Amino acid sequence: MSTQINPTNEANISRGTAMGTATYAAPSQTPDGTTEAAQRFVEIKIARRDNPDSAQRWETFRIPYRRNLNIISCLMEIRKNPVMANGERTTPPVWDMSCLEQVCGICTMVINGKVRQSCSALVDQLDQPITLQPMTKFPNVRDLAVDRSQMFDHLKRVHAWVEIDGTHDLGAGAKMSQEDVAERYAYSRCMTCGCCLEACPQYGGDNYIGPQAIAQVRLFNMHPTGKMTRDERLEALMQDDGIQNCGNSQNCVRVCPMSIPLTKAIYEENRETIIHGLFGWLKR
Ligand code: SF4
Ligand code: SF4
Ligand code: FES
Repeated sequence: MSTQINPTNEANISRGTAMGTATYAAPSQTPDGTTEAAQRFVEIKIARRDNPDSAQRWETFRIPYRRNLNIISCLMEIRKNPVMANGERTTPPVWDMSCLEQVCGICTMVINGKVRQSCSALVDQLDQPITLQPMTKFPNVRDLAVDRSQMFDHLKRVHAWVEIDGTHDLGAGAKMSQEDVAERYAYSRCMTCGCCLEACPQYGGDNYIGPQAIAQVRLFNMHPTGKMTRDERLEALMQDDGIQNCGNSQNCVRVCPMSIPLTKAIYEENRETIIHGLFGWLKR
């Protein structure tokens, strides 16, 4: 069965399903002349780039609609047969993915203008045409793939781990209040996806360490053993690109898919750095 779609023909377009998606209904006939239920399509525009130095371009694809499609399934469908809506063949799009259940954070991209994970973005909940763009705060490697190593470099700078004194049994750890356990658990859920950094107006061009690293400072400074290297973390946050550059717009906390209380972490670490700046020299 061949299906011809004319996107400019309003008669072919049905809009306004329950979740606000647009679907493209093709008039279709079986070989024996009977009419089938209209086939529906998902229209996706992908911002493509062949290498870090080449110009970005848009390519539009149409794939058959299925219920419960997510963006990764759409990309896989396009990758199987990379033919654009205008019939031209192109290269398969490139993106990153791993866990497919919003745990690893690697599939993060900008979908319809909003930064989020592509494995958990459902077509039925998105307006069409769906636009896919790479995050803008990290170097664009190719198509939708970005290099997020700056985030991991920041984690190294803030010493985002707890020192241990060998691999022998250290005995029972110090007790923590349930409140502290709950707060630390929230920070521990960070999956270094980069959403908060993409949304932060201050982050970019090495001018600000960003909310993700600050939340990890809070996580490890609250730990009874992690406190031993607390000053090192605070000093990392007091550099030129440090915590003082937060403009308090609170975009970060709104986009974090793990609902991490980033503004609380920023508030607490701001307080800690001020106290360390004023009285830290007394410890020397
Ligand atoms: S509150 Fe600070 S860290 Fe969060 S988005 Fe605003 S400037 Fe960025
Ligand atoms: S704090 Fe939230 S938005 Fe930022 S990297 Fe971690 S999980 Fe992603
Ligand atoms: S593939 Fe891991 S979060 Fe999407």
